[in-house]
Amino acid sequence: MTARRPTEPPGGYVLIGEALIQQRVRELGAQIAADYADKQPILIGVLRGVVVFLADLLKATNGLRCEVDFMAISSYGSGSGVVRIEKDLETSIEGRHVLLVEDIVDTGLTLRFILRNLEARRPASLAVCTLLEKQARRLVALPIRYTGFTIGDRFVVGYGLDEGQRYRNLPDLWVIDELA
Ligand code: IMP
Ligand code: MG
Repeated sequence: MTARRPTEPPGGYVLIGEALIQQRVRELGAQIAADYADKQPILIGVLRGVVVFLADLLKATNGLRCEVDFMAISSYGSGSGVVRIEKDLETSIEGRHVLLVEDIVDTGLTLRFILRNLEARRPASLAVCTLLEKQARRLVALPIRYTGFTIGDRFVVGYGLDEGQRYRNLPDLWVIDELA
């Protein structure tokens, strides 16, 4: 019998395993490195869920000349559309090529808020890379250039994503929607 690791969500199951995630992130990193080879982009991570994905993605852009910055957002539940910037960028993005990196886009309301905010700062270009997309619940059309995986309407944790600040440190993506 295999011992359950202590942080695994009881009743949950693995939706996307570590090996598949790592393979897909390497593909995304290589694609981004090729697309931005001569652009010196700023990759902007939206805290906190994105940290694991962004770290792996950065390593996968091996050799790309780029910068990294972070924003922190509080949204009052997915789909509420009520979003506040808790931590702003330290870099000016005016005239810069910006790649916004997100963990998951559900209704898209959070991302729409962030994109409008960043567009107002007049970047040279603004694109989005998200690890996960839930297309079934999308309320607004958004220009997402890079998507890791499209998933169904499931609540997922692990690989940076949390439920009440738990499970971010799992290397796989788990569905826990029976519990949520
Ligand atoms: P949206 O505004 O509905 O697109 O919600 C996006 C935000 O909701 C994400 O940045 C997450 O913080 C949270 N979220 C949505 N779905 C999930 C999920 O399945 N697991 C963990 N967080 C989620
Ligand atoms: Mg997020």
